[in-house]
Amino acid sequence: MKFATKAIHAGQEPEKVTGAVTTPIFQTSTYADDKLGINKGYDYGRTINPTREALEKNLAVLENGKFGFCFSSGMSAVHSVISMFKPGDHVICSDNVYGGTYRLFEQIIKEYGIEFTFINTSDNDLIKKSLKKNTKLIYVETPTNPMLGITDLEVVGKIGKSKKIITCVDNTFITPYFQNPLDFGIDIVLHSSTKYLNGHCDVIGGCVVTSDKGIAEKIKFIQNAIGAVPSPFDCFLILRSLKTLAQRMKAHNENAIAICEVLIKEKKIKKIFYPGLKNHPQANVIKKQMRGFGGMISIDLGSYKSAEKFCNGLKIFEIAESLGGVESLICHPATMTHGSVPKRMRVKLGITGGLVRLSVGIEDKEDLIEDIKGAIRLT
Ligand SMILES: Cc1ncc(COP(=O)(O)O)c(C=O)c1O
Repeated sequence: MKFATKAIHAGQEPEKVTGAVTTPIFQTSTYADDKLGINKGYDYGRTINPTREALEKNLAVLENGKFGFCFSSGMSAVHSVISMFKPGDHVICSDNVYGGTYRLFEQIIKEYGIEFTFINTSDNDLIKKSLKKNTKLIYVETPTNPMLGITDLEVVGKIGKSKKIITCVDNTFITPYFQNPLDFGIDIVLHSSTKYLNGHCDVIGGCVVTSDKGIAEKIKFIQNAIGAVPSPFDCFLILRSLKTLAQRMKAHNENAIAICEVLIKEKKIKKIFYPGLKNHPQANVIKKQMRGFGGMISIDLGSYKSAEKFCNGLKIFEIAESLGGVESLICHPATMTHGSVPKRMRVKLGITGGLVRLSVGIEDKEDLIEDIKGAIRLT
């Protein structure tokens, strides 16, 4: 089966009692036993819920994995993965991860005795050099937020397998429509489903997918023990949104490519970061592991003043945190999504005062281009 068909059908048999074609919202916290100690496979809503089950099965199929788990946010999905490790363990992490992931690792988890090395995971040799005897996890975001840097998944997968290190990829920015990390030997893929998976800026959610039974057992245990599970209604909304993921991603990709072509010609734009650029430094890796470039573009306008004028001058793009919705958004990472990353690290990564991140929506591209051209004139 191809992607769009799987997105519409996987995990979603007609409901057993009525034949309802759409998986219902099972809004219940508990389930009655037939007799003491005998139930229908459902006991308590934190542990199991049929709407969540359908979503978990669907996501596992879309990511070419065997087991899916849903969470109440992307951050709780990240937290569930890091909760598999213990004091004394060492983690190698992409230095340009989402600011909230950096904050969780650096300000909370580190305090529990887990050691982190943040490096540019685009550099294969640097990953190898950063390995320690106690390295237990390589955690990668690719493409990164907001610099759109790329890590070679095949290389990370091979290092992980040869050294018995668990590997995890945050696939939020590009989605399973364009990239399946598990196909490259990665053990765990996770998402903020708040973004493209749900795609309508109306749900906060997260998910984890793996094909490894041992990892799946641990994540299932953590999901139930910590209890950061999504509501049945949110699961219903994400399940419904996934039915159009293929069509939405095609439109995001097409619009972003068209916008990039315009941006390249604008002298006021100092730098453009987009995986679809012909001169992208990792074009070969992109070709190997991605089937498209996605809808995220970052541009550097040279100064905070110009970035401010550009953002304020846009009429269709809303200034907002988040990304991946049908509506176009713009954000200023240094003061918004990556405000919790120390300034020296932001500067090293290129998250300057002049950098803005566009989440290109699926509106008509002519309107988006006109909006951008108008705002550039004001800078
Ligand atoms: C790449 C990435 N991962 C994880 C998260 C965290 O997700 P959530 O906001 O759903 O908790 C975000 C949020 O922006 C993100 O961009």
